[in-house]
Amino acid sequence: MSEDLKQTFLTDLEKVKNLTDLSGLKVKYLGRKGLVTSELKALSSLSSEEKRARGKTINDLKTFMETCLDSHESGLKKEDLRQKLLSESIDVTLPGKTLPFGSEHPLNTVLSEITDIFVNMGFSIEEGPEVELDYYNFEALNFPKNHPARDMQDTFFVSDEVVLRTHTSPVQIRGMEKSRPPIRFIAPGKVYRCDADMTHTPLFHQVEGLMVDRHINFSNLKGVLEAFLHRMFGKDTQIRFRPSFFPFTEPSAEVDIGCIFCKGSGCRVCKGSGWLEILGAGMVNPRVFDNVGYDTEEYSGFAFGMGVERIAMLKYSIDDIRLFFENDVRFLRQF
Ligand code: FA5
Repeated sequence: MSEDLKQTFLTDLEKVKNLTDLSGLKVKYLGRKGLVTSELKALSSLSSEEKRARGKTINDLKTFMETCLDSHESGLKKEDLRQKLLSESIDVTLPGKTLPFGSEHPLNTVLSEITDIFVNMGFSIEEGPEVELDYYNFEALNFPKNHPARDMQDTFFVSDEVVLRTHTSPVQIRGMEKSRPPIRFIAPGKVYRCDADMTHTPLFHQVEGLMVDRHINFSNLKGVLEAFLHRMFGKDTQIRFRPSFFPFTEPSAEVDIGCIFCKGSGCRVCKGSGWLEILGAGMVNPRVFDNVGYDTEEYSGFAFGMGVERIAMLKYSIDDIRLFFENDVRFLRQF
């Protein structure tokens, strides 16, 4: 009887492939209602002589089964662990997954370059609001209401008295209102004009510059701008000042550099002239000083303003300004 039981147990054990089957097998033979337990219970009907002999046989069988089950269980556990390690193993020799890397936008690179040059010359940095009062954007800069010079800057009006600033020049007024000379700052930032083609966008960036002190003259303006342009475009760059008009500077000038593409001989970029317009500048108009309460007998100053996109276009030979704002990664990856 117990030999039969042992055989069936061993046949059953051979079929066990996992821990769940194994625990089922344990219950089947050794559980409270298991086959071995029933045999033990049946002992009570035997004589004490038979009980001893049969009891020993069944207990031996039970011990045998327990040993088999234990060793099978540890075998299965080992196999389980081996499979788990195999499935979760990492092949450290595989090439890594490359994460896409962002990089600085070319306009920010150029803006930092411009800022660094002026900061190294001792200029500080000022900021002003992009939604600006008509007073700061025009009036205080000597553009009276209905003055034709306002037409030079196609304005986005928020209301009669509030505009999206058309240039960074209002920061000149805000900067002068809050401190007294000597003043030497640049004001980088976004500006807005109702303007759109290959070289104009409705949003673009300017960097304003202002220096006010006693005895500031046009030579100082030339010296600062030459130092800046030579560092920005190379020390052999030609520079010329052309008379121009801005209501807030007098005299005013447009500043050109010798075309960096054809070195002045004339090409498509400079439209055959050999020169590229870079910025507007001039001596601060005394009327502007009157508006901020500076003594025009005591102080003089110069101001300049440049378009950051224009400089970036020249530096990177880009002929369509809209590329800066389309965020096409094929364009941005080149920087
Ligand atoms: C001005 O905005 C004056 N505030 C500059 C100035 C400051 C003169 C201080 C004197 C003293 P202007 O309108 O020319 O000037 O603009 C300056 C530069 O901004 C231009 O040379 C050009 O590079 C850039 N610019 C003008 N309109 C646009 C536009 N729609 N898109 C991109 N760049 C523009």
